[in-house]
Amino acid sequence: MFPLKLILSSLALLRSYSLVRGTPISDQQILAIRQFNNSDIYANWPTYDQLPLDPSFPTKSAWGVWLEGADDELGALNHIRPETIKAALAEVQHGIAINLNLDLDVPHPPLVPSRTPLMHTFLAGEGYQDDIVTLNTQISTQYDGLRHVPYSTDANISTFYNNLLTFEDIFSAEGVNTLGIQNAAEKGIAGRAVLLDWAGWMESRNEPFDTLTSRSITVDELDLVAQWQGLDPSTFSHPGDFLIIRTGFTKQYSSLPQHEQMILPYREAENATFLGIETSDRTLAWIWEKKISLVGADNLAFETFPFNGTVDGVQRSLHEVFLSGWGQSIVELLDLEKLTETCHSLGKFSFFFTIQVLNVLGGVASPPNALAIL
Ligand SMILES: *[C@@H]1O[C@H](CO)[C@@H](O)[C@H](O)[C@H]1NC(C)=O
Ligand SMILES: *[C@@H]1O[C@H](CO)[C@@H](O)[C@H](O)[C@H]1NC(C)=O
Ligand SMILES: *[C@@H]1O[C@H](CO)[C@@H](O)[C@H](O)[C@H]1NC(C)=O
Ligand SMILES: *[C@@H]1O[C@H](CO)[C@@H](O)[C@H](O)[C@H]1NC(C)=O
Repeated sequence: MFPLKLILSSLALLRSYSLVRGTPISDQQILAIRQFNNSDIYANWPTYDQLPLDPSFPTKSAWGVWLEGADDELGALNHIRPETIKAALAEVQHGIAINLNLDLDVPHPPLVPSRTPLMHTFLAGEGYQDDIVTLNTQISTQYDGLRHVPYSTDANISTFYNNLLTFEDIFSAEGVNTLGIQNAAEKGIAGRAVLLDWAGWMESRNEPFDTLTSRSITVDELDLVAQWQGLDPSTFSHPGDFLIIRTGFTKQYSSLPQHEQMILPYREAENATFLGIETSDRTLAWIWEKKISLVGADNLAFETFPFNGTVDGVQRSLHEVFLSGWGQSIVELLDLEKLTETCHSLGKFSFFFTIQVLNVLGGVASPPNALAIL
C-alpha cells in the first residue's frame, strides 16, 4: 500500500466520509490523497488494483491522485508537463500538419435524434458580414469535458470528479463554473500522441467488421495492432501521451448512401448499436497504467454502445470512470482518415498533437480543434 494522507477541503458535500478522527466534520469533505512528490510526480502512483484510494469513493475512481487532491479540476491533464511537451517536439519530422475535425455539421442528421443539428446563419452588415453558429457540442468531433457524464447509480445520485459539483450547481442561477471546459482551454493541451489503426489491422487480416454493431475492441487486440504497426506494446506510449484509436466508424459512415445516413439515428433501441472499445476492467487497467492524458477515437462514444458493460463487478461505463473518476477527457468522432494514410505511408504512428477547446465558462464539451503534426 502507498501512503495515504487525509486532507480537508472546504466543500460541504459528502457527509458520509466518516474517516474523520476525533471531531466530526459534518460540513466538510475529507479525501484520501496520494502523497505527492513534485520532483517525481509518479512516486506512489497507485496501480489500477489500488483504485479507488478510499473505499467510499466511486468505482475505480482516481480521486485524490493529483496534487491539489480534493480541489483538483484538471485530472488526467496533469500528466501534461513542460517535459512531456518538449519531448514531443521530436515527433515533428516531416512538416506535415493534419486536421482531425469533421465538418461541424457531420454527422447529419445527428446520430442521436434528440440533438438538434448545427445552425449556421449569416448576418449582413453594411460593407461586412457576421455569421452565427449555434451548436450542440455532442454532434460532430467533440471533446467531452468533466461535466458531461457523472457516476450515476440511479436518477437521484450523480457524482462528478472529486465530488466537486452537483447537478444543481450546473443548472443554478449563480453560474457555478467548477469542472467547466474553461479548465481545459486554459491548461494548454499539447504533446505526443500515438495512433492505433485497429480498422486497418482488421482489413489487413481480411476480417470483416461492421461499426454499426456492438462489437467490442479488446486491449489484447490493441496490443496486436501495435505490433502490426511495428510498435512494442509495452513501450509505445509514454506518460502524458494521447492515445488515438481508429475503429473505422467515420469511414463506414461517410461511405453510406445518403438515405442510410438519414435513417441511421432512428434505429429501434435494440438495434441502435455502435462498435467501440470494450467496457471492462482490462481496458481500464491497460489505459491507467499507461498514464494517458486523454483518449480519442473516430466513433460515437469511444466505448461500445449501448453502455451495458461492468467495471469492478457493477454496471458502469468507461465514460463514468474516465470523466468523473479520473478526470480524463474523451475525444470522439475524430476524422482519422488522412492521418492514418499519412502514418502508414511514413511508417510512423506517433506525432505531435494539440487540442484547443472553446473557452466557455462552465462548458460541458467542445469541438476539440484537434491537430496532428508529423
Ligand atoms: C521526491 O523524489 C525525489 C526524486 O526521486 C527524491 O530524491 C526525494 O527523496 C523524494 N522526496 C520524498 C519526500 O519522497
Ligand atoms: C428518487 O427520488 C424520488 C423523488 O424524491 C423518489 O420517489 C425515488 O424513490 C428515488 N429513487 C431512489 C432509487 O432512491
Ligand atoms: C433489428 O434488426 C434486425 C436485423 O436487421 C431486424 O430483423 C429487427 O426487426 C430489428 N428490430 C427492430 C425492433 O427494428
Ligand atoms: C449489451 O448490448 C448488446 C447490444 O444490445 C448485446 O448484444 C449484449 O448482449 C449486451 N451485453 C450485456 C452484458 O448485456
